[in-house]
Amino acid sequence: MNMEGGKMLAMGGDELLEAQSHVWNHIFNFINSMSLKCAIQLGIPDAIHSHGPNPVPLSILVSSLQLHPNKTQFIYRLMRLLTHSGFFVQQEEGYILTNSSRLLLKDNPCAVSPFLLSMLQPALTDPWQFLSIWFQTDDQTPFETAHGVPFWKYMRNKPKEGEVFNAGMASDARLVINVLLEKHRSVFEGVESLVDVGGGTGTVAKAISQAFPQMECTVLDLPQVVAHLKGDQPNFKYVEGDMFTLIPPADTILLKWILHDWSDEECVEILKKCKEAITGSGSKKGKVMVIDLVLFNTKNDADSIETQLLYDMLMMIVPGGKEREEKEWAKLIKEAGFRAYKIFPILDLRSLIEIYP
Ligand SMILES: C[S@@+](CC[C@H](N)C(=O)[O-])C[C@H]1O[C@@H](n2cnc3c(N)ncnc32)[C@H](O)[C@@H]1O
Repeated sequence: MNMEGGKMLAMGGDELLEAQSHVWNHIFNFINSMSLKCAIQLGIPDAIHSHGPNPVPLSILVSSLQLHPNKTQFIYRLMRLLTHSGFFVQQEEGYILTNSSRLLLKDNPCAVSPFLLSMLQPALTDPWQFLSIWFQTDDQTPFETAHGVPFWKYMRNKPKEGEVFNAGMASDARLVINVLLEKHRSVFEGVESLVDVGGGTGTVAKAISQAFPQMECTVLDLPQVVAHLKGDQPNFKYVEGDMFTLIPPADTILLKWILHDWSDEECVEILKKCKEAITGSGSKKGKVMVIDLVLFNTKNDADSIETQLLYDMLMMIVPGGKEREEKEWAKLIKEAGFRAYKIFPILDLRSLIEIYP
């Protein structure tokens, strides 16, 4: 018997089975994501919600979903898994929602379901099948290995997928800006003009422009995202462009979920452009506001660490970026020529990093 075989036998029967079950859980983790996606697509949380606060019996739930008659018998199995994973609770022979499934309701202003649908669309999940091949080739990202083009270029040519992606970003943006305006409004006090770089369809900048009517707010994003959009308030507008070429001048530049999409070299380039944009406004008081993860900086329980590491892998696989620890952020900020920064860990796993020119 070889060494490995000997080691395996050295594991007691219980240890062996425990190890097997750990491996099984990892093999089948994707079933959690895909079952949740299915529940959203079938409208299960909304169907339960539409019956009011009382527990909804399975038969009522099934009759309020659009199902083929042969498939109604299977719903309880989907519900059994999602109840186990904390999305529903079974009470008095019926289902009720939990905080997590309330966050998936269509009419929740902070709904996370568009984000779920954007992250679990096939264009974003296919590259995972190519991860090991990518490690053995010269391709920039597994996304490119799977689709033949980098992520942003792919989105330019696939308007439907782009729309789903932008809607996902907008749903996160709604949640974040609600928290910022409700609990940390002071971070925008004194700002006269703001450019939200890579601001997507404008959810954040629009909300800021409404909360601060004296502030000039601009969204800069790629033509594929903003060309068809029009600002509907005097202090809010869209600008099509490329942040690597020119960022419109303002005293505050916002980068929400931008820098984690890019390599260190590209981040330094973007930050330098931000610095030029601040200087361009002639303001000495300007700042860059980055909203991103600072790895291991806020919550360090096992679940939170896992979420942070999952995000880092996602960045490696899809756009070719990374999540960063504070010392990595500090290096980028210094290389881009900024004088100082301050981290405000105010968004649960994410932070606001203010960077001063
Ligand atoms: C991860 S999304 C974040 C969107 C938004 N900031 C948010 O958090 O909801 C990144 C955004 O950067 C935009 N983007 C990518 N490359 C860009 C470029 N070269 N110039 C301007 N925007 C760009 C994308 O179109 C996308 O809207």
